[in-house]
Parts: sequence; structure tokens; C-alpha cells
Amino acid sequence: MNQDQLKRSAAEAALAYLLPRLERDTIVGIGTGSTANHFIDLLASVRHLFDGAVASSNASAQRLRRLGVPVFDLNAVPDVAVYVDGADEVNAARQLIKGGGGALTREKIVAASAREFVCIVDSSKFVTTLGAFPLPVEVIPMARGLVGRALRDLGGQPALRDGVTTDNGNLIIDVHGLRITDPRALEAQLNNIVGTVCNGIFAANAADVVFAAGPEGVKRW
Ligand code: A5P
Repeated sequence: MNQDQLKRSAAEAALAYLLPRLERDTIVGIGTGSTANHFIDLLASVRHLFDGAVASSNASAQRLRRLGVPVFDLNAVPDVAVYVDGADEVNAARQLIKGGGGALTREKIVAASAREFVCIVDSSKFVTTLGAFPLPVEVIPMARGLVGRALRDLGGQPALRDGVTTDNGNLIIDVHGLRITDPRALEAQLNNIVGTVCNGIFAANAADVVFAAGPEGVKRW
């Protein structure tokens, strides 16, 4: 199986896990990226079993609507039962790096709003220590230099993601060279940099369940 087929397998495992819990009033939170896209396509096939979705990006919202799944504003729903999304890295503690697709802020908001966070990945995303994948940080445009200098002081090498504006109208800085041995501490520290909107470490609110598809099958932890 190639990497895309593995992503599809992880999405299938997540749908099988969620199917027994879908009810007429269930709202499903939906992530962003190629693995989340597989999940959207699968979820649309059982559209009659739940109420609708909240999306973490304009791209996912468009895909959901195109497939006939109603998309609600997060503020308009009383409860998000579950959030399903991919990741750029995941460790044994289900802590993640996310934001390779630039949607980290809305992803973190919808994940935090959901009662359960299900992460779906192909097994290449598993790491012992987070940080080989450049850490995305969303910044207010006028704070780009200020935040970049603070990130350098923390030992990273910041690089502005060329030509990218987020759904929130901000910029993304990718931070190279970090070895993240204490994800919760670094997530909090980065949150304290003035001008930072959000960073791609998901540790304070890590995934509750991970489905990782590899050549030998889907592992769950
Ligand atoms: C989007 O901003 C990201 O957080 C994605 O969830 C992450 O980049 C994984 O993307 P793929 O599913 O495309 O690998």
C-alpha cells in the first residue's frame, strides 16, 4: 500500500470506531489535510446517521458541503461530539505536531471544543521525539519579526512560509531544528510570545485515540 492508501485505511478505522456513536443530533468536528479528506469522503457516505459537521478550514468546509454534509458555525452548535484530524507527527503519548497545511489555529479550536479527539495518520508520522517536522506557528503579520527573533532565542531556525496567508489572515512561520522533549512546556512557552496566534504543538489537548495505518495493519493507541 502507498502512503495515500494508508491514510485511507486510518480514516476507515476511525469511521468504524465512530459509527456506533453517531446519532441524529451528533456534530462531528473535521480536520484539514489529505488524511482528513479521506475521512470526509467516508463520512459523507453515512450522512443520514448524524446532524452535520464543524470544519477547521474553508477547504474542508467546501469539501463537506460539496458532498452534502451540512456545515455549522462552531458558535451555533451546543456540542461537538468528536474531532477527527490528521497530524504531521505523533508520539507515544498522542501528542502531536500539526499545521503542515496551515490550519493549526482552527484545528486547535475545534479539537478543544470536542469531547474526544481522534487522530488518523499513516505510520510514517510516528516519532519518538517531536520536532523533526518544522513546527508551524501562526503569527499576526506585524509581529513577524518580533516572533521570529523570539523563536531564534529559543534555539529554533524560523522560516516564513512563502506566499501563505491563513484562513484568519495571518502568516505561518515554520520553526526548524527544535527537539521537543517537553511538548506541554514548549507549547505554553510559545503561547506566551506576543504576536503569536497559535503554535502547532497539540500537547495540552493531545489526541485521545490514534489510528496509525502501516504495512502490517492499523495500530490504535
Ligand atoms: C493541517 O493544517 C495539518 O495539521 C494536517 O492535519 C497535517 O498537516 C496532516 O496532513 P496530511 O493528512 O495531509 O498528511
